[in-house]
Amino acid sequence: MSLIVGLVYFSATGNTRTIATVMKNELEAKEVIVKEFDITSLTDRETEIPFSEFNYIIFGFPIYGRKIPVVTKKWLATISGNNQRCGMFFTYGGPMRGGIHNETRALLEARNFVVIASAELLGKHSFNVAKGWELLKGHPNVDDFDITKEYTHKLLEKFTRAIIEPIEFLVAEDNLLPLDPNRKRIRMITQHPTRRDKECCMCRDCEELCSTGAFSADFGKADTEKCILCMRCVSICPDQVIEINDMTECFQDFVESLGLTPELLASRKSQYFI
Ligand SMILES: Cc1cc2nc3c(=O)[nH]c(=O)nc-3n(C[C@H](O)[C@H](O)[C@H](O)COP(=O)(O)O)c2cc1C
Ligand code: SF4
Ligand code: SF4
Repeated sequence: MSLIVGLVYFSATGNTRTIATVMKNELEAKEVIVKEFDITSLTDRETEIPFSEFNYIIFGFPIYGRKIPVVTKKWLATISGNNQRCGMFFTYGGPMRGGIHNETRALLEARNFVVIASAELLGKHSFNVAKGWELLKGHPNVDDFDITKEYTHKLLEKFTRAIIEPIEFLVAEDNLLPLDPNRKRIRMITQHPTRRDKECCMCRDCEELCSTGAFSADFGKADTEKCILCMRCVSICPDQVIEINDMTECFQDFVESLGLTPELLASRKSQYFI
Protein backbone atom coordinates (compact mmCIF):
# COMPACT_ATOMS: atom_id res chain seq x y z
CA MET A 1 0.00 0.00 0.00
CA SER A 2 1.31 3.48 -0.87
CA LEU A 3 2.52 5.76 1.88
CA ILE A 4 0.67 9.04 2.29
CA VAL A 5 2.63 12.10 3.39
CA GLY A 6 0.96 15.38 4.40
CA LEU A 7 3.08 18.34 3.30
CA VAL A 8 2.03 21.46 5.20
CA TYR A 9 3.71 24.84 4.79
CA PHE A 10 3.44 28.60 5.23
CA SER A 11 5.11 30.67 2.53
CA ALA A 12 4.50 34.39 2.05
CA THR A 13 7.14 35.16 -0.58
CA GLY A 14 7.57 31.71 -2.11
CA ASN A 15 10.84 30.27 -0.71
CA THR A 16 9.21 27.73 1.57
CA ARG A 17 6.75 26.77 -1.18
CA THR A 18 9.60 26.25 -3.64
CA ILE A 19 11.38 23.92 -1.20
CA ALA A 20 8.09 22.10 -0.52
CA THR A 21 7.67 21.55 -4.27
CA VAL A 22 11.16 20.04 -4.53
CA MET A 23 10.31 17.69 -1.65
CA LYS A 24 6.96 16.80 -3.20
CA ASN A 25 8.57 15.89 -6.54
CA GLU A 26 11.18 13.72 -4.83
CA LEU A 27 8.56 11.89 -2.79
CA GLU A 28 6.27 11.34 -5.77
CA ALA A 29 9.20 9.93 -7.75
CA LYS A 30 9.36 7.28 -4.98
CA GLU A 31 5.62 6.56 -5.43
CA VAL A 32 4.66 8.29 -2.20
CA ILE A 33 1.25 10.01 -2.28
CA VAL A 34 1.70 13.64 -1.22
CA LYS A 35 -1.20 15.71 0.12
CA GLU A 36 -0.17 19.35 -0.01
CA PHE A 37 -1.57 22.08 2.27
CA ASP A 38 -0.55 25.71 1.90
CA ILE A 39 -1.53 27.45 5.15
CA THR A 40 -0.32 30.93 4.22
CA SER A 41 -3.56 32.85 3.92
CA LEU A 42 -6.00 33.32 6.78
CA THR A 43 -8.67 31.28 4.97
CA ASP A 44 -6.18 28.44 4.33
CA ARG A 45 -5.61 28.15 8.08
CA GLU A 46 -9.35 28.01 8.73
CA THR A 47 -9.67 24.87 6.57
CA GLU A 48 -9.32 21.66 8.57
CA ILE A 49 -6.47 19.33 7.58
CA PRO A 50 -7.22 15.58 7.94
CA PHE A 51 -3.98 14.70 9.76
CA SER A 52 -5.22 11.23 10.78
CA GLU A 53 -5.22 10.20 7.09
CA PHE A 54 -1.45 10.62 6.73
CA ASN A 55 1.25 8.10 7.60
CA TYR A 56 3.82 10.88 7.99
CA ILE A 57 3.83 14.66 7.90
CA ILE A 58 6.30 17.34 6.80
CA PHE A 59 5.96 20.89 8.16
CA GLY A 60 7.67 23.88 6.51
CA PHE A 61 7.93 27.44 7.86
CA PRO A 62 9.94 30.59 7.22
CA ILE A 63 11.90 31.98 10.18
CA TYR A 64 10.56 35.32 11.47
CA GLY A 65 12.54 36.90 14.33
CA ARG A 66 14.19 33.51 15.06
CA LYS A 67 10.76 31.85 15.46
CA ILE A 68 8.02 30.50 13.23
CA PRO A 69 5.53 33.22 12.19
CA VAL A 70 3.29 34.07 15.11
CA VAL A 71 0.15 33.22 13.10
CA THR A 72 1.47 29.70 12.49
CA LYS A 73 2.25 29.29 16.18
CA LYS A 74 -1.39 30.15 16.93
CA TRP A 75 -2.54 27.76 14.19
CA LEU A 76 -0.39 24.93 15.59
CA ALA A 77 -2.29 25.20 18.86
CA THR A 78 -5.48 24.28 16.98
CA ILE A 79 -4.32 21.02 15.33
CA SER A 80 -3.43 17.58 16.59
CA GLY A 81 -1.70 14.50 15.26
CA ASN A 82 -1.90 10.80 16.01
CA ASN A 83 1.68 10.45 17.20
CA GLN A 84 2.78 10.19 13.57
CA ARG A 85 6.42 10.79 12.73
CA CYS A 86 7.07 14.14 11.14
CA GLY A 87 9.94 16.10 9.62
CA MET A 88 10.37 19.87 9.76
CA PHE A 89 12.11 22.34 7.47
CA PHE A 90 12.69 26.07 7.72
CA THR A 91 13.74 28.67 5.18
CA TYR A 92 15.59 31.76 6.35
CA GLY A 93 17.07 34.89 4.87
CA GLY A 94 20.53 34.69 6.42
CA PRO A 95 20.59 36.67 9.68
CA MET A 96 19.57 34.22 12.38
CA ARG A 97 18.00 30.89 13.24
CA GLY A 98 18.34 30.81 17.02
CA GLY A 99 16.65 27.83 18.63
CA ILE A 100 14.09 27.37 15.83
CA HIS A 101 14.46 23.57 15.58
CA ASN A 102 14.01 22.78 19.27
CA GLU A 103 11.31 25.39 19.86
CA THR A 104 9.20 24.25 16.91
CA ARG A 105 9.73 20.63 17.82
CA ALA A 106 8.33 21.36 21.29
CA LEU A 107 5.27 23.04 19.72
CA LEU A 108 4.64 20.06 17.40
CA GLU A 109 5.21 17.46 20.10
CA ALA A 110 2.70 19.26 22.31
CA ARG A 111 0.21 18.59 19.49
CA ASN A 112 1.00 14.84 19.26
CA PHE A 113 3.49 14.77 16.39
CA VAL A 114 6.83 12.98 16.77
CA VAL A 115 9.61 15.07 15.24
CA ILE A 116 12.41 12.95 13.78
CA ALA A 117 14.41 15.39 11.64
CA SER A 118 14.79 19.01 10.62
CA ALA A 119 16.42 21.18 7.97
CA GLU A 120 17.31 24.85 7.48
CA LEU A 121 17.41 26.07 3.89
CA LEU A 122 18.58 29.40 2.56
CA GLY A 123 16.03 31.70 0.91
CA LYS A 124 16.14 35.27 -0.33
CA HIS A 125 15.15 37.58 2.53
CA SER A 126 11.47 38.57 2.42
CA PHE A 127 12.41 42.26 2.70
CA ASN A 128 14.35 42.04 -0.57
CA VAL A 129 11.09 43.28 -2.12
CA ALA A 130 11.96 46.69 -0.64
CA LYS A 131 14.41 49.22 -2.05
CA GLY A 132 17.74 49.16 -0.21
CA TRP A 133 17.50 45.66 1.30
CA GLU A 134 19.31 42.67 -0.12
CA LEU A 135 20.16 39.40 1.62
CA LEU A 136 20.72 35.99 0.03
CA LYS A 137 19.54 37.11 -3.40
CA GLY A 138 19.08 34.13 -5.73
CA HIS A 139 18.29 31.59 -2.98
CA PRO A 140 16.97 28.98 -2.87
CA ASN A 141 19.29 27.88 -5.67
CA VAL A 142 20.49 24.56 -7.10
CA ASP A 143 22.75 23.91 -4.10
CA ASP A 144 19.81 24.42 -1.74
CA PHE A 145 17.68 22.13 -3.93
CA ASP A 146 20.36 19.40 -3.82
CA ILE A 147 20.42 19.53 -0.01
CA THR A 148 16.60 19.46 -0.01
CA LYS A 149 16.56 16.36 -2.23
CA GLU A 150 19.14 14.59 -0.05
CA TYR A 151 17.14 15.51 3.06
CA THR A 152 13.91 14.20 1.50
CA HIS A 153 15.46 10.82 0.69
CA LYS A 154 16.94 10.42 4.17
CA LEU A 155 13.70 11.57 5.78
CA LEU A 156 11.67 9.01 3.83
CA GLU A 157 14.09 6.27 4.88
CA LYS A 158 13.91 7.38 8.52
CA PHE A 159 10.10 7.63 8.46
CA THR A 160 9.89 3.90 7.74
CA ARG A 161 12.65 2.71 10.08
CA ALA A 162 11.51 0.33 12.85
CA ILE A 163 13.35 2.05 15.71
CA ILE A 164 14.51 5.64 15.86
CA GLU A 165 17.10 7.11 18.21
CA PRO A 166 16.05 10.47 19.73
CA ILE A 167 17.68 13.42 17.95
CA GLU A 168 19.05 16.61 19.55
CA PHE A 169 19.06 19.83 17.53
CA LEU A 170 21.79 22.36 18.22
CA VAL A 171 20.92 25.98 18.95
CA ALA A 172 22.59 28.08 16.23
CA GLU A 173 25.36 30.34 17.48
CA ASP A 174 23.55 33.29 15.94
CA ASN A 175 21.14 32.98 18.86
CA LEU A 176 23.85 34.80 20.82
CA LEU A 177 23.77 37.81 18.51
CA PRO A 178 23.82 40.69 19.08
CA LEU A 179 26.33 40.52 21.91
CA ASP A 180 28.39 43.65 21.46
CA PRO A 181 27.16 46.27 24.00
CA ASN A 182 28.65 49.02 21.84
CA ARG A 183 26.76 47.91 18.76
CA LYS A 184 24.78 50.38 16.77
CA ARG A 185 21.09 50.31 17.62
CA ILE A 186 18.97 48.89 14.83
CA ARG A 187 16.45 51.38 13.55
CA MET A 188 14.00 49.11 11.83
CA ILE A 189 11.62 51.47 10.13
CA THR A 190 9.34 49.21 8.20
CA GLN A 191 6.21 50.89 6.99
CA HIS A 192 3.23 48.74 6.30
CA PRO A 193 2.48 47.90 2.67
CA THR A 194 0.56 50.50 0.72
CA ARG A 195 -0.67 50.69 -2.87
CA ARG A 196 1.40 53.30 -4.66
CA ASP A 197 -0.90 53.93 -7.60
CA LYS A 198 -4.59 54.55 -7.35
CA GLU A 199 -5.21 52.53 -10.49
CA CYS A 200 -4.79 48.76 -10.56
CA CYS A 201 -6.63 45.82 -12.12
CA MET A 202 -8.49 45.21 -8.80
CA CYS A 203 -7.88 41.46 -8.85
CA ARG A 204 -8.18 41.61 -5.00
CA ASP A 205 -5.38 39.06 -4.49
CA CYS A 206 -3.76 41.38 -1.94
CA GLU A 207 -6.89 41.13 0.19
CA GLU A 208 -7.86 37.51 -0.44
CA LEU A 209 -4.36 36.05 -0.07
CA CYS A 210 -3.14 38.24 2.81
CA SER A 211 -1.66 36.08 5.59
CA THR A 212 -3.69 37.80 8.27
CA GLY A 213 -6.69 39.43 6.58
CA ALA A 214 -4.99 42.81 7.04
CA PHE A 215 -4.94 44.23 3.51
CA SER A 216 -7.86 46.13 2.01
CA ALA A 217 -7.97 46.16 -1.80
CA ASP A 218 -10.45 49.04 -1.71
CA PHE A 219 -8.31 51.29 0.50
CA GLY A 220 -4.97 50.02 -0.83
CA LYS A 221 -3.39 49.65 2.59
CA ALA A 222 -2.84 47.26 5.47
CA ASP A 223 -4.39 47.32 8.91
CA THR A 224 -1.30 47.97 11.03
CA GLU A 225 -2.73 46.03 13.98
CA LYS A 226 -3.07 42.85 11.93
CA CYS A 227 -0.21 43.06 9.42
CA ILE A 228 2.82 40.85 10.21
CA LEU A 229 5.01 42.36 7.45
CA CYS A 230 5.29 39.03 5.67
CA MET A 231 5.51 40.82 2.28
CA ARG A 232 3.07 38.51 0.58
CA CYS A 233 0.91 41.30 -0.80
CA VAL A 234 3.98 43.11 -2.16
CA SER A 235 5.34 40.02 -3.84
CA ILE A 236 2.10 38.71 -5.39
CA CYS A 237 0.51 41.91 -6.73
CA PRO A 238 0.34 41.35 -10.51
CA ASP A 239 0.51 45.11 -11.19
CA GLN A 240 3.44 45.53 -8.73
CA VAL A 241 1.84 48.60 -7.20
CA ILE A 242 2.13 47.62 -3.52
CA GLU A 243 5.31 48.68 -1.74
CA ILE A 244 6.96 49.44 1.56
CA ASN A 245 9.41 52.23 2.33
CA ASP A 246 13.01 52.57 1.20
CA MET A 247 14.98 50.40 3.64
CA THR A 248 18.50 51.58 2.71
CA GLU A 249 19.25 53.21 6.04
CA CYS A 250 17.89 50.53 8.34
CA PHE A 251 19.50 47.82 6.23
CA GLN A 252 22.90 49.38 6.92
CA ASP A 253 22.13 49.47 10.66
CA PHE A 254 20.84 45.92 10.55
CA VAL A 255 23.88 44.35 8.89
CA GLU A 256 26.35 46.36 10.98
CA SER A 257 24.64 45.63 14.25
CA LEU A 258 24.43 41.91 13.61
CA GLY A 259 27.88 41.72 12.06
CA LEU A 260 26.42 40.33 8.85
CA THR A 261 29.58 40.55 6.79
CA PRO A 262 29.65 39.12 3.25
CA GLU A 263 31.97 36.38 4.61
CA LEU A 264 29.52 35.43 7.35
CA LEU A 265 26.61 35.34 4.92
CA ALA A 266 28.66 33.28 2.47
CA SER A 267 29.36 30.80 5.25
CA ARG A 268 25.64 30.12 5.72
CA LYS A 269 24.76 26.81 4.09
CA SER A 270 21.56 24.87 3.74
CA GLN A 271 21.78 21.81 5.96
CA TYR A 272 19.72 19.10 7.60
CA PHE A 273 19.75 17.24 10.91
CA ILE A 274 18.65 13.62 10.83
C1 LIG B 1 8.88 39.55 9.56
C2 LIG B 1 10.06 38.77 9.09
C3 LIG B 1 11.03 38.38 9.99
C4 LIG B 1 12.14 37.65 9.55
N1 LIG B 1 13.06 37.22 10.47
C5 LIG B 1 14.12 36.49 10.05
C6 LIG B 1 15.05 35.98 11.00
O1 LIG B 1 14.91 36.09 12.22
N2 LIG B 1 16.13 35.31 10.53
C7 LIG B 1 16.34 35.12 9.19
O2 LIG B 1 17.36 34.53 8.84
N3 LIG B 1 15.44 35.54 8.26
C8 LIG B 1 14.34 36.20 8.66
N4 LIG B 1 13.39 36.60 7.74
C9 LIG B 1 13.55 36.20 6.34
C10 LIG B 1 12.74 34.92 6.03
O3 LIG B 1 12.97 33.94 6.99
C11 LIG B 1 13.11 34.31 4.67
O4 LIG B 1 13.16 35.25 3.67
C12 LIG B 1 12.15 33.17 4.34
O5 LIG B 1 12.78 32.29 3.45
C13 LIG B 1 10.83 33.64 3.74
O6 LIG B 1 10.07 32.52 3.40
P1 LIG B 1 8.86 32.59 2.35
O7 LIG B 1 9.44 33.10 1.05
O8 LIG B 1 8.41 31.18 2.22
O9 LIG B 1 7.85 33.50 2.90
C14 LIG B 1 12.28 37.32 8.16
C15 LIG B 1 11.27 37.73 7.27
C16 LIG B 1 10.18 38.44 7.72
C17 LIG B 1 9.12 38.82 6.74
S1 SF4 C 1 -3.11 42.64 -5.80
FE1 SF4 C 1 -2.40 44.52 -6.81
S2 SF4 C 1 -3.62 44.59 -8.68
FE2 SF4 C 1 -4.66 43.15 -7.32
S3 SF4 C 1 -6.18 44.43 -6.21
FE3 SF4 C 1 -4.32 44.34 -4.96
S4 SF4 C 1 -3.19 46.19 -5.53
FE4 SF4 C 1 -4.70 45.84 -7.13
S1 SF4 D 1 -0.88 43.20 4.54
FE1 SF4 D 1 0.76 42.58 5.89
S2 SF4 D 1 0.14 40.52 6.59
FE2 SF4 D 1 -1.08 40.98 4.76
S3 SF4 D 1 0.07 40.07 3.09
FE3 SF4 D 1 0.68 42.26 3.24
S4 SF4 D 1 2.52 42.21 4.56
FE4 SF4 D 1 1.47 40.23 4.83
